[in-house]
Amino acid sequence: MSKFVNQITFITGAGSGIGRATALAFAKAGAQVVVAEVNEENGRKTVEQIQEMGAGALFVRCDVAYPTQIDAAIRQTVDAYGRLDIAINNAGIGGKYGRLVDQTQEDFNQIMAVNVGGVFYGMQAQIRQMLLQQKDETLTNGNQLTPPQPAGGKIVNVSSIAGVRGMPMGAPYSASKHAVIGLTKTAALEYVRQNIRINAVCPVYTHSTMVDELINTAPGMEERMRRMIPLGRFGQPEEVAQAILWLCSDENAFCTGQALQLDGGMTAG
Ligand SMILES: NC(=O)c1ccc[n+]([C@@H]2O[C@H](COP(=O)([O-])OP(=O)(O)OC[C@H]3O[C@@H](n4cnc5c(N)ncnc54)[C@H](O)[C@@H]3O)[C@@H](O)[C@H]2O)c1
Repeated sequence: MSKFVNQITFITGAGSGIGRATALAFAKAGAQVVVAEVNEENGRKTVEQIQEMGAGALFVRCDVAYPTQIDAAIRQTVDAYGRLDIAINNAGIGGKYGRLVDQTQEDFNQIMAVNVGGVFYGMQAQIRQMLLQQKDETLTNGNQLTPPQPAGGKIVNVSSIAGVRGMPMGAPYSASKHAVIGLTKTAALEYVRQNIRINAVCPVYTHSTMVDELINTAPGMEERMRRMIPLGRFGQPEEVAQAILWLCSDENAFCTGQALQLDGGMTAG
């Protein structure tokens, strides 16, 4: 599958789990991937894995809790490749496992800064760049009789099944992932005429560092989590990656403002 040949694809949190699987899947499909990560060692490892596949990738250090770092990362992307076609706002943290009254202001603020701020400021920087590209293209094609089709762009934000239902012992996390869906739907409506399609994915428990941490919070936790999923297993990062690719593909051009639940049937009942 080479659906994304030379598409410049910016992915946050691509040093691990779902982000890394998504980076590898886009690279395999022909994209030029920008790995934006706060963990430099892991981010560079993803870049190495992509290069071993014979594809190109760039590492940019970026803590998504800081808008200036996101702006700088998008600037570095454009300096290197000249444009931005696809952005995946995936970086996220799970936060503290505990009841609502035991969550501190610091716990709440940290998760909001990364999980919500990362998506909000991420989309601001990404959409600004995508709009700029359209202006350039309109100027170049300005003397044609038919108005040029806006080049547009695609954005996928990584929410969670905790973004569509409550998550006992994770109130700030659940609130942050609900917010990601609100941002996704609103931005999708605001930029639909500019041909920027914006969707979200909402995975249930998926094998990753984040889920391993949750599993280790109590004995028997893994089994309890597994029983909540009708399919009887956790998701794989590669399965989430494939859904993200599909959301970004041109075959899926009519889909925007959606929050796709990848939950082994959990919310069907
Ligand atoms: N694994 C799951 O079960 C699951 C389920 C639903 C949603 N999610 C969401 O998927 C996304 C990816 O999580 P994962 O499961 O792959 O976890 P992970 O911990 O394996 O990966 C998260 C990555 O984000 C990076 N990151 C964290 N804070 C960052 C910051 N401030 N700036 C830049 N990068 C940062 C980490 O270094 C790490 O590489 C998260 O948004 C998470 O909330 C995960």
